[in-house]
Order: sequence, then C-alpha cells, then structure tokens
Amino acid sequence: MIKIKGIFLTQGLDPASDGPGLDGRPQNPLRIGRGFVFFMEIISEIKDMQALAAEWRSRGFKIALVPTMGYFHRGHLSLMEYGKTSSDRLVVSLFVNPTQFGPNEDLARYPQDLERDAAQARGVGVDVLYTPTAAAMYPPGYQTYVEVERLSQGWCGASRPGHFKGVATVVLKLFHQVQPEEAVFGEKDYQQLAVIKRLAADLDLPVAVVGRPIVREADGLALSSRNTYLNSAERAAALCLYRAILAAREVMLTDARSREDILAAVRKIIMSTPHTRIDYLGLVDPETLEEVGTVRQEARLLLAVWLGSTRLIDNTLLAESRLCCV
Ligand code: PAF
Repeated sequence: MIKIKGIFLTQGLDPASDGPGLDGRPQNPLRIGRGFVFFMEIISEIKDMQALAAEWRSRGFKIALVPTMGYFHRGHLSLMEYGKTSSDRLVVSLFVNPTQFGPNEDLARYPQDLERDAAQARGVGVDVLYTPTAAAMYPPGYQTYVEVERLSQGWCGASRPGHFKGVATVVLKLFHQVQPEEAVFGEKDYQQLAVIKRLAADLDLPVAVVGRPIVREADGLALSSRNTYLNSAERAAALCLYRAILAAREVMLTDARSREDILAAVRKIIMSTPHTRIDYLGLVDPETLEEVGTVRQEARLLLAVWLGSTRLIDNTLLAESRLCCV
C-alpha cells in the first residue's frame, strides 16, 4: 500500500479503467502499467464533499452512500461491497453522531480506529471515506432536527429517547452532503432502516434506501461494533439472541404462528441464559413495526437484550411460507 496525502493506492484487477477525471482526480480504477490502482480519498470538509458529489452527478455518475459510525467489521464491509457493485462512485461516511446518543449512553467509549477503518474501506474499493467533524455538522447555534414520529417511538426508541431523531437528522444531512442515488444500511438495525425508509418517502428524497442482510459470526452472533464491549462470559451468553431466533423459526415449523407461542419460546431461551436482561421482544409488521398477534405472511421478530452493561439487538424475518428465514 502507498499512502499519499490521504490518497491510498492498492493493486487491483478491475479492467474498467476510465483514467483521470476532468477535475484531475483519479477515477477508479486507474490503469498503471499492467496492474490497476484503486484510489480512496479521505474528505472531511462538508463543502469539499458537496463539490465532488455535484461534479460526479453532473457527469452522470451514480453515487452510493454507506453511512457508518466506523470501527468496521464484516457487516460494514458487506454493505460497502454491495454499494461498490451497485454504483459508479461509493462514499462511506464515518461519523460518530453525538445527537443519537443519550446522556448516559456510550458516546465517549464508542470504539474508533480511523487508520484501520481507512485501510479496510480502501480494500473494498471505496472512492471516498467521508469524515465530517462534529463541530462542522453541529456548529454553535445548530437547532434543526427531523423526526419520524410514530416509527421512532417504540422498541429501541422507547429505550433510547431521542435516538432516532438524531439518526434521522444526521442521515438527512449526509444525504444533502453526498447526494447519493442509493443509500445502503444493514438490517441489523431494523428499526433504523424502517425509520430511514419512511424519512426518504415522506420527504420525497431522491434516494433509494436499501437494506442488506445481517452478517453473523460463525456461531450466529450478529456482528456489531458493540460486541467489543463484551467480556468472555457475556460473549458466550450473547449467543442466546441467535438461539432465540432459531427457536422462533422452530416454532414456525409447527402450526403455531401466534405471538404468544413465538415469544414464549424466545423468552425461555433468553431467561435461562446467565448475564442477560430482556430490554424488549417484539413480533411486528415489517413495515409499520406495529405488533402482530399472529404471523400472517411475514412478521419481524425484534430482540434487544442487555448483556451486563451492553445492549445488543438482533432480528429476523419470520415468514409463513418459508422453512428458513434470513
Ligand atoms: O447505523 C449507524 O451506524 C448510524 O446509526 C448511522 C446510520 C450511521 C447514523 O449515524
């Protein structure tokens, strides 16, 4: 790897080179000799990001955005890999957004490692790693927020008041700054995905919001930056979320489809696991997130469980007509 003033070069094999752009910036990938190099630029100024996005748009490039708070794991990388194939230019934003953390939450200890994240993003072929500062995103006097009312209220919204107001606000700001035609989010934060889809629909935003499947460890634990907080006993106990999901799928294989049957099986697994405390369990309509009494066609099982001082979430689709769900 060569690093030049925030531009990373990596050998690649993609033959679709289009050479330097009109603005003199390298276009990805760029043929050099017999190999190809992928450039990744790190941009932290909002106006620079906006100018580049406008220039890309004027040249007809489709921009995809993967919004993140960094500390990448394979889940993030899978979103980037998807965005890379579905767009001409891929921007990954890395911003630990203070407005989505409550006063007693983990903002101060949220894991961060810019160098490692940059190396991983570059490896996927990300064009721009966008790292705005909190001071620029929320300068003194800042007072404009956006709220997706009903969808933000229950589930994680009940446990984390104000959380989705912060998420919706920062995502809307990022959309204005990066001007993506497509934005890619993980399904692990299922309520967040529903909130952002609603935000885009309600405000007529010209961006397709795409949800991508949860990526799991080999033993089933959903990947999350917060998994790093778990000690070894909590890490072992955290498997109860996936075991509970498997139990719910088992119930679906019988004729039982009721909320009581499904949640009883889920509750039994979690409550018999040490170090756990249930925050919420829900069986909901996949779009409105309103509770359903029985799985008719499809429902989403939502789980939030405390492992010591760490709260983990997970979810799965339960479908009447399928033996196995994602
Ligand atoms: O899912 C996250 O990492 C964050 O909530 C997001 C969407 C980047 C907004 O800060």
